[in-house]
Amino acid sequence: MARKIMVTGACSQLGRVVEVLLKAQADVEVVALRRSELDILDSAAVMSLVEDLKPATIINCAGFNDVAGAEIRLANKLPVNTRGVFNLAQAAAKYKVYFCTFSSKFVFNGKKSVPYVEDDELWPLNQYGSSKQGGEELVTDSLENHLIVRSDLLYGGGRDLVSRILDELRAGNQFKVSDDIFISPTYIGDLAAAMVALALKWAAGVYHYTNDAGGGVSCYEFAQAVAEGSGFDSSLLQAVPVSETNFGAPLLLPERAILNIDKFGGLFPPLVRPWREALEDYLRQ
Ligand SMILES: NC(=O)c1ccc[n+]([C@@H]2O[C@H](COP(=O)([O-])OP(=O)(O)OC[C@H]3O[C@@H](n4cnc5c(N)ncnc54)[C@H](OP(=O)(O)O)[C@@H]3O)[C@@H](O)[C@H]2O)c1
Repeated sequence: MARKIMVTGACSQLGRVVEVLLKAQADVEVVALRRSELDILDSAAVMSLVEDLKPATIINCAGFNDVAGAEIRLANKLPVNTRGVFNLAQAAAKYKVYFCTFSSKFVFNGKKSVPYVEDDELWPLNQYGSSKQGGEELVTDSLENHLIVRSDLLYGGGRDLVSRILDELRAGNQFKVSDDIFISPTYIGDLAAAMVALALKWAAGVYHYTNDAGGGVSCYEFAQAVAEGSGFDSSLLQAVPVSETNFGAPLLLPERAILNIDKFGGLFPPLVRPWREALEDYLRQ
């Protein structure tokens, strides 16, 4: 019998790719639900849908991830990362469903001198990070059979830093980008493939997945690679402190919250690749 996998937040950047990858699997039946089909903040709707569908697995791709917006005026959107995740976890616990969801490197404060491992202490600096920590804790308290995959800045879904850089450079505009925040930029297709690989193996607990950037690259270095890889004039990029970008104050950001990906790499070595290779492949498409 095919394994039934329910995907929530199916219209998200990640949800769209996860759905495609799952549909390419043999012996998997995918039920992909947009917000209009299931609002995960509606606990009664979540409970009755899980009871009716009886999925073996739920992969939650819904969330709110406007880190700067959440700090300034959109904190009211964050409950999807906490209460929404809790509703799904509660239904999963009741109907013995394996529950998978995404989290973020923003659960860490970036003060550690080497990349973070999965069981390092959580210490978010901003509201978005706190909401992801809350979501994680609500999952781990609700059921044992869960998978949480943390990641870093994603691109490739259309609403991301790479698109913004390309739009500005194409228009011949200067673009300010921080040189004091370090990241492991990650192609969304690679993260979706990592989640699917882990979920198909019924992996449990917390995993980190990013493209491999060693100790991290600055956002400016990443932007330069985007410009060069797509044939635009990289001199239009201006390296500035993050406080001078529209991603800056009053938001507190971890300077170097890099995720250690050895635990994932030990299971699926072929799915780990350098960030430049992933970016070049994406820009070539
Ligand atoms: N993007 C990143 O850089 C990044 C990095 C690390 C981790 N993550 C995590 O990965 C997950 C997905 O991110 P993403 O960038 O793919 O998201 P996204 O493109 O911003 O999409 C979020 C989706 O969640 C849906 N949603 C919001 N509230 C909902 C609700 N109450 N019920 C059902 N669906 C709801 C939205 O529906 P509508 O389309 O109707 O608005 C939207 O389709 C999130 O947990 C995020 O925190 C993202």
